[in-house]
Amino acid sequence: YKDHFMIGTLYHGEVLGNDIVNPYLEEEYAITEREFNVITAENCMKPMHIIGEKGEYNFDEADRFVKYASDKGLTIVGHTLVWKNSAPDWFFKNENGDAVSRDVLIARMTEYIDTVVSRYKGKIAYWDVVNEAVDVFPDGKGGRVAKLKSTPWYDIIGDDYIEIAYRTAHKADPSCKLLYNDYNMYNKEKTDFIVNMVNDFKSKGVPIHGIGSQAHMFIEHPKLDQIEYWLRKCADKQIPLHVTEMDISVLPNAWKHRGASVEDNFELAEEFNPYSEGISHDLLEQQAKRYADVFSLFLKYSENVERVTLWGVWDGNSWRNYHPMKGRTDYPLLFDRNFQKKPAYEALQKLI
Ligand code: XIL
Repeated sequence: YKDHFMIGTLYHGEVLGNDIVNPYLEEEYAITEREFNVITAENCMKPMHIIGEKGEYNFDEADRFVKYASDKGLTIVGHTLVWKNSAPDWFFKNENGDAVSRDVLIARMTEYIDTVVSRYKGKIAYWDVVNEAVDVFPDGKGGRVAKLKSTPWYDIIGDDYIEIAYRTAHKADPSCKLLYNDYNMYNKEKTDFIVNMVNDFKSKGVPIHGIGSQAHMFIEHPKLDQIEYWLRKCADKQIPLHVTEMDISVLPNAWKHRGASVEDNFELAEEFNPYSEGISHDLLEQQAKRYADVFSLFLKYSENVERVTLWGVWDGNSWRNYHPMKGRTDYPLLFDRNFQKKPAYEALQKLI
């Protein structure tokens, strides 16, 4: 795949599922260095990990990540600078606990972006500057409309928080390519909105260099023609596309139970954790076919697809085991719990 687009994976650093020490670094690193040429930090570059409760910057883990990737010659993706309420609560509040003014939040946001991007100037090839800013809402007439969603950034600063973020990042590292990253791009209204936003930025001279489409998928969903829609749309408009967080869950879709804990709810557990005793070969084959079908589309549009990143190295260390609810057993990636290649890996090998 390296001849067609960059092929990427994740750095989990020392944490697994956010709070458990990762004892599998050695195995993960071996696969990473053998199979991939670009790497994204799963969590350690998010604002809540870099800027703590007291407002002091802590770059320990992010520095380790950048050193590891640089030492191994891996291209680095920084993820992410501005995302929902991913900064600590105090960031958006004054000493009385009230929301800060637009000017104060712009000052805090630009200082944060400048500090982080400057620190890794020349080392990070791509930054996901703004993550997940758009959502789709009912339009009141039975249809759907995509809009910027309510986040502390949007509510306090307004529409232009996005372009301010890009201009600030570009100033801090003019050679870095800046991406806008979002999920559910199979949704036509959302894709159209994002493509228009990026084109509008380009016409106004806002520095933005591509779209990131997360691609957290299921075996049946989204449909291939929905995936092709965003690939074709970005290609038609000549906006470079990065597939930034791909995985294919084999579990039932439980997003509506987001945050529920299976330990507390055995009915949900049974319904939503059917493969806790192990997964059938048949299902792994279905997943392999699905990976191959989706990658065939990426190859079809490979002139415009710059990168495909898998959101993890192996099944045991995937966020889909603990999102949207804890305690599930999923099999979404290319390597199994013994670090062996799965049928999905073999199917992708056969494609090229
Ligand atoms: C996820 C991580 O994988 C989890 O470990 C963490 O608990 C929550 O965030 N969209 C994104 C990623 O842009 O940053 C998210 O990563 C997955 C969804």
